[in-house]
Amino acid sequence: MVINLSSQSNSHQSERPVVFADRIGRLYAEAATDEHKKGLGQYLTPVPVADFMGSLISARNKSRIRILDPGIGSSILSCGACESLITRNTGVKEVELVGYELDKKLLPTTQKALHYLKDWMAARGVTLEHIIKRSDFILENGHVLQENLSLFASESESPKYDIVISNPPYFKIGKDDPRAMAASSVVHGQPNIYALFMAISAYLMDEKGDFIFITPRSYASGPYFKRFREVFFSKVVPEHFHIFGSRKEAFDRDSVLQENLILHAKRRTEHSKDHNKTVKISFSQGSNDLSKPVKRTALLKDVINPKDKNVIIFIPTTDEEEQIIARVNSWKSSLHKYEMEISTGPVVPFRATKFIRYQGDIKNGEAPLIWMINVRDGKFSWPLRERNKEQYIIVDDESMPLLVPNRNYVFLRRFSAKEEEKRLNSSAYLKNDIPCKWLGLENHINYVHRPDGEITKEEALGVSAILNSRFLDTYFRTSNGNTQVSATEIRDMPLPDISIIQKIGSKIEKEGVESVELESILP
Ligand SMILES: C[S@@+](CC[C@H](N)C(=O)[O-])C[C@H]1O[C@@H](n2cnc3c(N)ncnc32)[C@H](O)[C@@H]1O
Repeated sequence: MVINLSSQSNSHQSERPVVFADRIGRLYAEAATDEHKKGLGQYLTPVPVADFMGSLISARNKSRIRILDPGIGSSILSCGACESLITRNTGVKEVELVGYELDKKLLPTTQKALHYLKDWMAARGVTLEHIIKRSDFILENGHVLQENLSLFASESESPKYDIVISNPPYFKIGKDDPRAMAASSVVHGQPNIYALFMAISAYLMDEKGDFIFITPRSYASGPYFKRFREVFFSKVVPEHFHIFGSRKEAFDRDSVLQENLILHAKRRTEHSKDHNKTVKISFSQGSNDLSKPVKRTALLKDVINPKDKNVIIFIPTTDEEEQIIARVNSWKSSLHKYEMEISTGPVVPFRATKFIRYQGDIKNGEAPLIWMINVRDGKFSWPLRERNKEQYIIVDDESMPLLVPNRNYVFLRRFSAKEEEKRLNSSAYLKNDIPCKWLGLENHINYVHRPDGEITKEEALGVSAILNSRFLDTYFRTSNGNTQVSATEIRDMPLPDISIIQKIGSKIEKEGVESVELESILP
């Protein structure tokens, strides 16, 4: 890959450094292969996003500032940070910048952009010293997480940065990857590399530092990031979340299909416990409307409930969403409290081809096979012949481990599209719906059951109505960037008192689901 950088003039300084870094970064990205970029998680930040992230830096009265940019790329975020410090007259006189970049071929581009920035800053009376480390950020710094255990010893030796700004690489790594091992204290299962960048950076930040990252939203909830959230949010406290409404638009030109989130955080202090502490939340569709985001503030305790052992992050973008989160968080029970369990359907069709059938006969020993499509608009319908999905599974000794007894259940679809209006789609299933002994549940269905007994009709109807309600749907949507509805998350979701669930269920049984005004019945 040869890029003619010398033709990219930097003599007249007519461009802002962010725009210059973007222009030469794009030249590099256009010449690099998709494979190369994918391997390094290399998706460069567009100008409006870099400007927005730079604008989040707090005003501080300090003449010398240290900036860290892990995974610096063409340095657009460092340029954004420096431009913001200078144009806002923060009193800065010297900047020391440390960047990490693994892609050696990109380094001439990075150097070119940083020299341009240095000249631009010099013309404004500010000096820039920059060091680009051609090493793996995680392998070089992962030890700071281990040292967490002997906090005081490590704290005094760690380098401190006033600003840590990054768009880190995003991809999953194996748990035996040396990078996962270097950051093992925040790793559970197969980690995403971006979370390791975030955790380590939090430890490298000064007491009064600014942490500004753009990443996928997936860390906000879910069991795989729980350990990360525990460690990370014990160290930092969010000041501002910016969410993008569209998956595509933040990084449009690289077609990144992630739901992106910008986080501005500070180190956790005594003040973070303040009951009335607030978090800024802003929202834009993509990068083009980022200069005019919708803004609001929420209480920190509604964004991260201090009593929540799962440390789930809620990002309400309206007052109504915030009220619903607070309301649902006030419910004190969950499925487990009522000895209910949620599990994933055991039938994986491609492994069960010899058992599953388009046609069948229950009297002849075949059992109904239930898929996501059988759960629609809060209702259960079976069989559905028009959808070309096998609706039966044979019952014999070999298929028995795939079957569940015909009892009352709540079925919940395991997947939803973000664009879909509802994320939680469930229906009650009552054993009298189909006169049979066994049921086959396909793997894209989660089902609520009671392992040591059976859930009652009222419970099935009540739990399903609550899962289908705008209350739990909003609760889920504001915390979860994934289209997957994991059983673990539903298991821990708050539920109201069992007497209320039963009351809702019995009203539905007698008068139909339309008759129930959850708004007035739910606490
Ligand atoms: C998502 S890109 C962002 C680049 C730049 N910060 C920006 O915002 O445009 C992430 C960068 O991190 C680099 N990178 C990937 N893994 C790295 C690692 N382990 N250590 C340091 N840099 C890494 C990639 O080569 C890529 O340039």
